[in-house]
Amino acid sequence: MNTTATSAHETPVLNVGLLGAGTVGSQVAHVLLTRGDELALRSGVRLRLCGIAVRDTAAPRDVELPAELLTTDADAVIDAADVVVELTGGIEPTRKRVLRALQAGTSVITGNKALLAESGRQLQDAAGASGAQLSYEAAVAGAIPIVRPMRDSLAGDRVERFLGIMNGTTNFVLDQMDTTGAAFEDALAEAQRLGYAEADPTADVEGHDAAAKTAVLASLAFHSSYTIEDVHCEGITGVTAEDVAAAREAGYVIKLLSVGERCGDGVNLRVNPVMIPREHVLGGVHGAYNAVFVEAAAAGSLMFYGQGAGGEPTASAVLGDLVSAARAIALGAQGIPLADYAALPAVSMDDVTTRLAVTLAVTDRLGVLARLAQVFADHGVSISTMQQSEDPRVTGTSLLRLVTHSGRHADLMATVEALRSLPVVRDVVSVTPVETGE
Ligand code: HSE
Repeated sequence: MNTTATSAHETPVLNVGLLGAGTVGSQVAHVLLTRGDELALRSGVRLRLCGIAVRDTAAPRDVELPAELLTTDADAVIDAADVVVELTGGIEPTRKRVLRALQAGTSVITGNKALLAESGRQLQDAAGASGAQLSYEAAVAGAIPIVRPMRDSLAGDRVERFLGIMNGTTNFVLDQMDTTGAAFEDALAEAQRLGYAEADPTADVEGHDAAAKTAVLASLAFHSSYTIEDVHCEGITGVTAEDVAAAREAGYVIKLLSVGERCGDGVNLRVNPVMIPREHVLGGVHGAYNAVFVEAAAAGSLMFYGQGAGGEPTASAVLGDLVSAARAIALGAQGIPLADYAALPAVSMDDVTTRLAVTLAVTDRLGVLARLAQVFADHGVSISTMQQSEDPRVTGTSLLRLVTHSGRHADLMATVEALRSLPVVRDVVSVTPVETGE
């Protein structure tokens, strides 16, 4: 970086190399090109966009970008930069490029949750070895400041757990199902029509995107290194309109929750559709919005809420990292290494304390309830509430909706399997964990 000002009024210059000019990248470039003076005043450094690496320089873009900055040579952009902003996504060749920058001592800002959740430790090590900064506010919950609060603001506290709605696509789909009674497929089609869901929605609806974010956030919250493999992951494709309606009737709403919580001597990380009380703060998160609810020993409950995706909101998080990195570089500061000294193991779902809402289709005849209740008692699982109605689909069959008291997840699931094997149980219609928020 040319940090030596040649006169009292000259601002040092920092070369910013941008990898990717999609929805977020083009917004970042636009702000750098149009609001440079303002950013220079904030960071004490002039942020000079020195190159934009793209796959196709002629592709149409959301924002017009100077042709002379566009190139397909990513390595040349990296080598010319003082800071690299990586917004291409994917694992390879992105990992090699990010490593190339970090190993050369060039700080990197990325929104790539998949890469961080797979190779975060490797990238952190490379940054630590060269003193470069690795910043990734945009990787978790888009515009919402949550990475920096978790890493810095709560560094003196003890995070007990976080519960997050960290995928806007699935929150939109579940919210549509809840508010309109739509089936999953119809709500997803609406999300695609409105641009909230990709043509291939797999990463969102199967929970992979939320699981990657959970691993990244948990690594900071619990001072340990986690990968996506440590996260128990279930998506929302099995959630039916009937499940959503039954939850609504009982005062709950179904959300795809990302949870990281202390569990025994370790931490359980999970992403799954759960019922939460409508009055819980996360129950009021509608549409494609994201939110993260954090419980810390001293701070108590904290709620972070905002837009989790989209060009401008995500660019806001990237630019915040960029101004921050520029300030640090101007001061000659090194990057902050990930404090993963705690090395808390990832604990399996089996040992998590939870509650289940179970819907059973059962033969409607004398003694059936007593038989079912015995199975619960045999497994040491206590029933909290039970509702019975006629199954409109099959005559002579009742629908039983049971909610258990808290128990070990493995014991609750063993109870469900024992119920499934009873001749009087025609179908286990649904099994949904209940998150009370307590
Ligand atoms: N597809 C994500 C979402 C945004 O729907 O929230 C990027 O992670």
